[in-house]
Amino acid sequence: MAASSSIFLVYFLLPLFSTATLHSTSSLYRSQLITQQESSPKNATPTTFFEVTKPIKLPKTKPFSHLILEHDFGSTYRKPPILANYTPPFNCPSQKFSKIVLEWRATCKGRQFDRIFGVWVSGVEIFRSCTAEPTKNGIFWTVKKDITRYSSLLMKNQIFAVYLGNIVDSTYTGVYHVEIFVHFYPAKVRLGGFDSGADLIVPISRNMHLNDGLWFEIENSTDVQSKDFKIPPNVYRAVLEVYVSFHENDEFWNGNPPNEYISSNNLSIAGNGAFREVVVSLDEMVVGVVWPFTVIYTGGVNPLFWRPISGIGSFDLPSYDIEITPLLGKILDGNSHKISFGVTDALNVWYVDANLHLWLDGKSKKTEGKLLRYSLLPLSLSVLTNFTGFDGSFITNASRSITLTGMVKSSYGTITTKSSQSLSYSNHMVMGNEGNLQIVDQIIEFNDTVYATTPSSYVHSLESFKKYLLKLYSDNVDQGNQSYTSISNLTLGLDDKRVKGSKYGSSVSSVNNLQNAQGYMIVKGHLVVKGLGSTQQVYKHNDDSCCYSRNISSSNYTILYDKVSNSCSNSTWSHWPLRIDKKRSLPG
Ligand SMILES: *[C@@H]1O[C@H](CO)[C@@H](O)[C@H](O)[C@H]1NC(C)=O
Ligand SMILES: *[C@@H]1O[C@H](CO)[C@@H](O)[C@H](O)[C@H]1NC(C)=O
Ligand SMILES: *[C@@H]1O[C@H](CO)[C@@H](O)[C@H](O)[C@H]1NC(C)=O
Ligand SMILES: *[C@@H]1O[C@H](CO)[C@@H](O)[C@H](O)[C@H]1NC(C)=O
Ligand SMILES: *[C@@H]1O[C@H](CO)[C@@H](O)[C@H](O)[C@H]1NC(C)=O
Ligand SMILES: *[C@@H]1O[C@H](CO)[C@@H](O)[C@H](O)[C@H]1NC(C)=O
Ligand SMILES: *[C@@H]1O[C@H](CO)[C@@H](O)[C@H](O)[C@H]1NC(C)=O
Ligand SMILES: *[C@@H]1O[C@H](CO)[C@@H](O)[C@H](O)[C@H]1NC(C)=O
Ligand SMILES: *[C@@H]1O[C@H](CO)[C@@H](O)[C@H](O)[C@H]1NC(C)=O
Ligand SMILES: *[C@@H]1O[C@H](CO)[C@@H](O)[C@H](O)[C@H]1NC(C)=O
Repeated sequence: MAASSSIFLVYFLLPLFSTATLHSTSSLYRSQLITQQESSPKNATPTTFFEVTKPIKLPKTKPFSHLILEHDFGSTYRKPPILANYTPPFNCPSQKFSKIVLEWRATCKGRQFDRIFGVWVSGVEIFRSCTAEPTKNGIFWTVKKDITRYSSLLMKNQIFAVYLGNIVDSTYTGVYHVEIFVHFYPAKVRLGGFDSGADLIVPISRNMHLNDGLWFEIENSTDVQSKDFKIPPNVYRAVLEVYVSFHENDEFWNGNPPNEYISSNNLSIAGNGAFREVVVSLDEMVVGVVWPFTVIYTGGVNPLFWRPISGIGSFDLPSYDIEITPLLGKILDGNSHKISFGVTDALNVWYVDANLHLWLDGKSKKTEGKLLRYSLLPLSLSVLTNFTGFDGSFITNASRSITLTGMVKSSYGTITTKSSQSLSYSNHMVMGNEGNLQIVDQIIEFNDTVYATTPSSYVHSLESFKKYLLKLYSDNVDQGNQSYTSISNLTLGLDDKRVKGSKYGSSVSSVNNLQNAQGYMIVKGHLVVKGLGSTQQVYKHNDDSCCYSRNISSSNYTILYDKVSNSCSNSTWSHWPLRIDKKRSLPG
């Protein structure tokens, strides 16, 4: 369930099968636990779980590696985060690093839920992830994340904080044994310019002294959480990086039916429809939104899908950047300002926080800014319902666009930045077999663009085109004796193409990542007693200097095939025609 609160409550909220139907709604997709499986592999060696992703491009230099923290996460639920003092690698002869990599290594044995966790450096979140669900013979997994963008933070003494809310008792026996490393790869050449990391990163999270993660918890549609902050007077660029995850009643927000359906069927399950949007405001003014990728945690839909290949994004949840440079004029006054988060139609609970990345003008003590244009079209949301009793269909469509244009005067000149978000969403949901069958077909398009220009020239541009696909089919059949069979299949897709431009040309990188999974499980009480899961995944990454693709499949805990290629075939571009137009006239 990947949530840190009320694991017992979740299960009592599940509809009981003594009612007329199983009501195959979101609550049935919720994370499940596997018993001491008959279906698990017989060999006694731990299984390695992993998420398919591209290897991090590393320089050929020898890394300096730090073990930051080692901890056994047992009864850590609603306890303070685990802290560790951090010192930069001062013993390394080179103090310039071209790559910094976080490595998470964990083992676990027994029975345990998927748990969400976060890693913060003095309040700045650098990693959000979900644990793998263990088996009785034990599992092992490792996640590597490129954290070079947090360099400026890692060059000072800091406090690392890790919150992983786990509960251990006679039923949930799994303790997570964790090690966190940071690897520093010395640079051969000095880096700089717009591509280098921010000079200062301001945390927009809760203060460290609490019995919980540092994320804000957003519990309903009117809940707004905020943080005051100040920025130095010489900032010339600002990007807000937002971390988001959804749990409990909103773990499968994309499968939540409208309240109308729930109330007319007297159901006590999660509702509020299937659309959610994280709204980010600066001093009450909406500056950007996040329509998140539909991460499925390792216990979600059918936990046997994710053994050993984990769901897209589950071991390294994406964060979302909102360029707020056009708004610098509003916050360069030395006063305190406020960033707030809300989630449209939220149900309990969303974990949201952010990092404000700031670039400082090294040659000037003061920069000046002015917002030139602010255009926010209200969210357009339509819901079409057609149901009788437990069966029917719901079509939910939404779109939104936000454009900010602003100017900043610094020693780099007077730069005008135009930053836009354009998003569309469509969700088609069908309920059948008296509410026991649910089909969800959802697609999100999430485009961001940033263009920076001076009156006479082009400075830089960033374009990001994201597409999130989710197709879910789940049919549940009551077996009597408090057990049910669930047959489900799933398609999960993430496409992300980025075009970066500068005076010297442009570069393109893309990821096309698609998973299909299918299987069944017999659930008794709240445990999966039997089942089978199969997963196929095709991952392709291309950029100017390298291509990486992997075609992999697993079934019943076993890898059936695993093909890796480093050749750049043109088929990769079939979704995203390569387009480099250096002469594009930039709006400003
Ligand atoms: C899965 O593999 C186990 C052995 O590891 C085997 O006993 C079981 O029959 C397999 N299940 C299916 C459905 O193939
Ligand atoms: C929404 O959540 C907030 C924070 O927990 C709470 O204070 C408020 O009463 C809730 N509102 C509703 C309508 O439930
Ligand atoms: C819902 O409850 C009301 C009042 O108890 C009852 O009249 C109605 O028949 C119920 N509807 C369904 C679909 O069970
Ligand atoms: C509503 O659903 C019923 C049953 O599937 C179908 O016959 C009818 O045409 C649908 N109505 C609309 C407006 O789509
Ligand atoms: C919703 O969006 C989909 C995909 O863009 C489109 O095919 C459909 O016609 C839209 N439906 C409604 C009711 O707006
Ligand atoms: C996102 O960008 C792609 C590629 O330019 C375009 O086809 C699509 O319509 C855009 N979607 C939205 C919601 O702006
Ligand atoms: C009772 O549950 C078990 C699973 O624990 C299942 O194998 C069996 O078929 C069920 N019996 C009936 C009558 O459904
Ligand atoms: C899931 O299975 C159903 C029934 O076999 C099939 O109609 C549907 O196309 C499948 N969907 C996906 C996403 O694989
Ligand atoms: C992946 O490999 C499987 C098995 O060899 C093959 O059937 C499939 O076409 C491959 N997919 C792609 C996209 O190459
Ligand atoms: C790949 O590109 C080359 C050169 O443009 C072309 O001749 C070839 O047919 C392409 N192959 C495929 C599979 O599209």
